[in-house]
Amino acid sequence: MTDLATMRESALTRIEEAQDAAALESLRVELLGKQGSISGLMKTLGKMSPEERQSEAPKIQGLRSDVADAIAAKKDALDAAELERRLASETLDLTLPEPQSPKGSVHPVSQVMDELAEIFADLGFSVATGPEIEDDWHNFTALNMAETHPARAMHDTFYFPDVDSEGRRMLLRTHTSPVQIRSMVKQGAPIRIIAPGRVYRSDSDATHTPMFHQVEGLVIDKDINLGHLKWTLETFLKAFFERDDIVLRLRPSYFPFTEPSVEVDVGWQDVNGRRVLGGDGDAPGHGWMELLGSGMVNRRVIEFAGLDPDEWQGFAFGVGVDRLAMLKYGMDDLRAFFDGDQRWLDHYGFSPFDQPTLSAGVGASA
Ligand code: DAH
Repeated sequence: MTDLATMRESALTRIEEAQDAAALESLRVELLGKQGSISGLMKTLGKMSPEERQSEAPKIQGLRSDVADAIAAKKDALDAAELERRLASETLDLTLPEPQSPKGSVHPVSQVMDELAEIFADLGFSVATGPEIEDDWHNFTALNMAETHPARAMHDTFYFPDVDSEGRRMLLRTHTSPVQIRSMVKQGAPIRIIAPGRVYRSDSDATHTPMFHQVEGLVIDKDINLGHLKWTLETFLKAFFERDDIVLRLRPSYFPFTEPSVEVDVGWQDVNGRRVLGGDGDAPGHGWMELLGSGMVNRRVIEFAGLDPDEWQGFAFGVGVDRLAMLKYGMDDLRAFFDGDQRWLDHYGFSPFDQPTLSAGVGASA
């Protein structure tokens, strides 16, 4: 009896004096844990006579619940004291600027590709892709550049050293034009695609990098003529540069895969010493800038792709995506596109939440 009273007093005093949560927890284990002293007392109930048990059980159970309550109350008190201490010692300066967490941004090349997809989707084009490791046939031969064709030499091609089992030497595609062939072979006609992607040439200076980006356009249908080409390019460039005064000049040119071929120039004007696209290039203080290559798809190319050129005609164009980005967003060194310099990316990158749309504008604000 007195034992129980002593135990209670000692337990409650020790609980009251516990300094912290860890001390309180070890006390709980010592008293109420499986091997704890109060748990031990509970086990003695089994060996008692029924009468003894009847009188002892409520006391022991009472002791156990009082101790459990005291531990719970002490825990609340310790938690509250800890919170008080932290509130008193920790301060939050609400006048400080928000901490800057590192933010990713959309690279201008990706941004421009998204803009192109948005604009051309509206004209009924879908996006096609092809491999960057190409074979000679798709990159050259099927585009009407036979083995000995001089245009091959102009491409500064990266070839792989080995020849495959069929005797083919693979290469890094030098342009996105092979996707024209792959798309025609795969899906037949009619066809309306753009094919943006990486291309490779052994060349490097401020406006050339060994890897760069192009977008290819291809339309194959019935009775397609140069007028369709011109309208499509004009509509695309007005939407892309977000100006209605874009003026194009079509010049006769030569590409093996188009006949006739046209080089497309766009008019620019001098605005405070900067060349800004827009306006008639022939006006005083204005000029023309070469922008892209295009033309009516050569009959031979249509045949190579397995279609009948008497039934199907079309036009194609190819333009540098990096160049489009430079003209629209004002960068002057192409090499910086691929340096991964954080300052450049912070300056020229785009918010991932700013999606190009025709209604809200394709050129998102940086
Ligand atoms: N493939 C050409 C190049 O890389 C660009 C080009 C010109 C693509 C005319 C075309 C085209 O589709 O019609 O220089």
